[in-house]
Amino acid sequence: MSQNIETSRDAARERTLIKIQAGSGALFAVFLGVHLVNQMVAVAGPAPYDALQGQLRAVYQTPVVEIVLVLAPLLVHIVVSVWRMVRRRQAGRPAPRTPRARLQRYTAVVLLVFTFGHIVATRGASLIYAVFPGFDGIAYTMVWFIGYFFPYYLLFSVAGLYHLLNGVMLALPRLGLRGARVGRSGGIVMVGWIAGGVALLLGLLGFAGAFQEVRPAAIESPYARLLDELGVAELRR
Ligand code: HEM
Repeated sequence: MSQNIETSRDAARERTLIKIQAGSGALFAVFLGVHLVNQMVAVAGPAPYDALQGQLRAVYQTPVVEIVLVLAPLLVHIVVSVWRMVRRRQAGRPAPRTPRARLQRYTAVVLLVFTFGHIVATRGASLIYAVFPGFDGIAYTMVWFIGYFFPYYLLFSVAGLYHLLNGVMLALPRLGLRGARVGRSGGIVMVGWIAGGVALLLGLLGFAGAFQEVRPAAIESPYARLLDELGVAELRR
């Protein structure tokens, strides 16, 4: 097969992968967007956090929605993104070096490291043991080991926020939505990231008990008891 045909075939494959990456990322972004707003609401305490999560969960844990709009797009996005990275490396093409492209890659690595453990720890608990973490469950992780969970949740959520905002701005034009010129400047993404990052930090301070007492309910929570029964975390009195 002539070199030209091979090159144009490869270019066509790359265009398809870019579209699948953009489409799956944009689909998962719907869940991630509402999920991160839910974490911001933790600043207001357990009742508003759990009430909003209950309403959102009624949608995103409906089996069809959970598979088609949450888990499948996440898996497809990860597989295609890693595949593109491997192809780029095999072809000896350099990775884009603009600050936005680098931040997108660094935040992707953070999400790759933490996402599956997070899903197992949260969704696994409700799927296998019918125990939903909720506000008190997350607050219990702060009571148990704040030195790890506070920086972990902060890094994970702030990385998720940047990857979502910048990712959607990259994806929309690639999906043929030419109208999305606004985000091309990067300024909008940065302002959204800083404002959202502050709101996520305040949400985490809410889980950590900075604005109200969370410890008694956290220790008595079904999630704390489950971690104790599984021998993961000794219940702290
Ligand atoms: C402050 C940071 C975060 C906290 C405290 C948090 C907390 C939670 C909680 C409590 C659940 C269970 C939801 C429910 O029972 O309805 C959950 C599920 C989940 N989280 Fe997070 N999350 C955070 C950040 C993220 C990020 C950055 C991602 C990005 C990949 C993510 C992806 C997911 C997914 C995919 C599920 C399972 C959804 C489902 O199928 O029900 N989370 N998280």
